Amino acid sequence: MSLPRQVHAELLDTLAPDDPRAIGSRSDLHRINRLMATQSLIRGPLDKILHGSNAIRLVELGAGDGQTLLQLARHHARRWPQVNLELLDVQPVVNAQTLADYRALGWNVEVIRADAFDWLAQPASGAVPVIIANLFVHHFEGERLRALLNGIAARASAFLCCEPRRSRLALTFSRLLGVIGCNEVTRHDAVVSVHAGFSAQELSALWPQPSAWSLREAPAGLFSHRFQALAKHV
Ligand SMILES: C[S@@+](CC[C@H](N)C(=O)[O-])C[C@H]1O[C@@H](n2cnc3c(N)ncnc32)[C@H](O)[C@@H]1O
Repeated sequence: MSLPRQVHAELLDTLAPDDPRAIGSRSDLHRINRLMATQSLIRGPLDKILHGSNAIRLVELGAGDGQTLLQLARHHARRWPQVNLELLDVQPVVNAQTLADYRALGWNVEVIRADAFDWLAQPASGAVPVIIANLFVHHFEGERLRALLNGIAARASAFLCCEPRRSRLALTFSRLLGVIGCNEVTRHDAVVSVHAGFSAQELSALWPQPSAWSLREAPAGLFSHRFQALAKHV
């Protein structure tokens, strides 16, 4: 029996960035991303998107502390083109060391402290970006989700996201995160996130003008749901 999609507030979004529970939960997210094999799930499609370009503008929405892409950059920066990266989040949680680490790999990096909806509502400027997101899109439902996808489609040449898969297996594991030492915020948010996750072709069904895009949406790894949209003509 499939799980109905239910979106509820996540505790991390309600805590100040310097709250010890938030700091602990952001650190738990590193381990959760390892468990979800996020980097390998992003790497393949991102490789294909970046292949053949000389320079790319990459924007990560809901980037948190910026560590997810940094791990990828460490392993692939030499093969990838010049990346101009914008890490966007409502909370200022990217530290100076992370920025220095990106720059040491040759990436230009900028932190944008903004609500993704406000940023998407601004007139587009600069190069057309590739937009990515990890564990971010599932925060939204209904008109907000539709507006988010419309806003991304209106300004990106490609979009890639990895989100929780709304499945019994993911739900079972989300309830066991105490075993690997995740704190109460993470344990709460993980279960909420699975209920708010995606399955089937739910994001493709909401993507605007699907005939102008090449869309792929499927379960990925054990616990993730991956969606990608590539504009057919940029
Ligand atoms: C579950 S965390 C994922 C962080 C990071 N992508 C990762 O994989 O570790 C979701 C992030 O989305 C951010 N966020 C939530 N709503 C947002 C919004 N409307 N605009 C921008 N960022 C938002 C939160 O501050 C948080 O850092």
